[in-house]
Amino acid sequence: MTRIAVAKGDGIGPEIMDAVLKIFDAAKVPLAYDFVDMGKWVFDKGYSNGMTPEAQQTIETLGILFKGPMETPKGKGVKSVNVTARKTWNTYANKRTFQTLHGVDTVFSKAGIPIDITVVRENIEDTYGGIEHMLTHDVALSRRFITRPGSLQVIKYAFEMAKKKGARRITCGHKANIMKITDGLFLEVFYEVAKGYPELNADDVIVDDLCMKLVTKPDLFDVVVLTNLQGDIVSDLCAGLVGGLGFAPSANIGDHICIFEAVHGTAPDIAGKNIANPTALLLSGIGMLHHLGLMQSAVTIENALLYTLENGQHTGDFGDKSKPSLNTTQFAEAVIANFGKTPAQGAKPMLQDMPTTQTHFKLEKNPMLESHDTSNERIVGVDFFIESNEQPTIIANKCLRHAGVKFKLVNISNRGTQVWPTGSVYTNLVNQYNVRFESLDDLPLTQQDVLGLYISLSGNYKICSSELLLMFGEKRAYSLAQGQ
Ligand code: NAI
Repeated sequence: MTRIAVAKGDGIGPEIMDAVLKIFDAAKVPLAYDFVDMGKWVFDKGYSNGMTPEAQQTIETLGILFKGPMETPKGKGVKSVNVTARKTWNTYANKRTFQTLHGVDTVFSKAGIPIDITVVRENIEDTYGGIEHMLTHDVALSRRFITRPGSLQVIKYAFEMAKKKGARRITCGHKANIMKITDGLFLEVFYEVAKGYPELNADDVIVDDLCMKLVTKPDLFDVVVLTNLQGDIVSDLCAGLVGGLGFAPSANIGDHICIFEAVHGTAPDIAGKNIANPTALLLSGIGMLHHLGLMQSAVTIENALLYTLENGQHTGDFGDKSKPSLNTTQFAEAVIANFGKTPAQGAKPMLQDMPTTQTHFKLEKNPMLESHDTSNERIVGVDFFIESNEQPTIIANKCLRHAGVKFKLVNISNRGTQVWPTGSVYTNLVNQYNVRFESLDDLPLTQQDVLGLYISLSGNYKICSSELLLMFGEKRAYSLAQGQ
């Protein structure tokens, strides 16, 4: 018996989790459950991260969490427990599989176009850090972290998974043409990792083009790997291709802890009515059984589920409306009644159970992920983000007075568009500029030099934020303003 942690969640969570566990019990899945307290009602009890310390301890001990959807209380300043769980336990890869299911009609299934796409979404970084500030009353800033070690973890996982799956193609979705440094880093790591997998056809597609291609030619794609926000959007798009969120399972994979859940939320509009579709959570559970090496249980349940769908048995949110729909419990019972049957299309071959690869072990301290040494790094300037509603030339004249003997004022930009020394009067301005100073005559700069300039400039302006301009060897580690 393998012990796992189970959190039923909020809204439809308990109904669909009960249905799935009923199916697991009927299939005699060799799992034992430790039920843990997580979700909205735990927030309401005063636990600000949405889980009790006992829940955290149990999950960290067992290494596997099977969870229902959880509600994030609105407007109370609390963060989503779903995102907290993924980030706290470094489940860096969010794997979502989208397959044509016979019995779930879509435009593609009707046209005979098969879909089998796995989206691997980076799960920790990007704007999901939720690090946001108002710089002025008019200007909000979100920090977007893309890191080399973080990208490496998720991209390596995606290639390994694609190889195991026998995928033909692995595609990186990105926007590196615009975000050259952040998405550029993700794409660079993708091609570095690709060198170790010559058997896979690795390519990249700009994310807007990817969306268009996914809806016109979804059968061309196999495994797609993306940064967090783009991956979130693209995976919901893919859910739409195969029939909606009711059929979208998800696994959050880390080196120590893994979380299995459906993509959909708590569906408050239908909660408590016993009419929700448990398929996405059941598919997530089947993914968990595969992960645990419990292949026989996984195949038995999946074939029964596919048979049930193919047979036209459905909950109210999909299927043939002329046939009466089943409620959540009846749907689970229908799956159980179909154990041992195989669907005409897409049947899974029986597999032997595999010994679980023990990835979960106790950590003594927080792992530090560092990939490069910093010896050839130098400071060559600084960007100050200042609040001002003055015209660019007036700001330039004031800033020039602060440049002193170590700095030169290089340019001024507003919302990333250069407005000084050259620019256009047609560029609309907001009350926050970026003034860029660089080292005079390429002299080396220190942080103390930058602080001296900071103090001097602060006599004239409120400095909302600042960034060092760095060179890594001969490589510029900052972007140029539009028009610079
Ligand atoms: P939602 O996914 O809960 O609902 C969207 C629509 O899909 C609703 O009409 C709902 O009835 C329907 N739906 C969802 N799952 C269904 C199912 N299994 N069977 C039949 N119909 C289903 O998204 P929404 O309304 O944006 O979010 C509601 C709450 O869920 C929010 O508090 C949100 O923060 C939370 N949420 C939690 C997630 C998680 O725990 N991983 C993921 C997404 C949202």
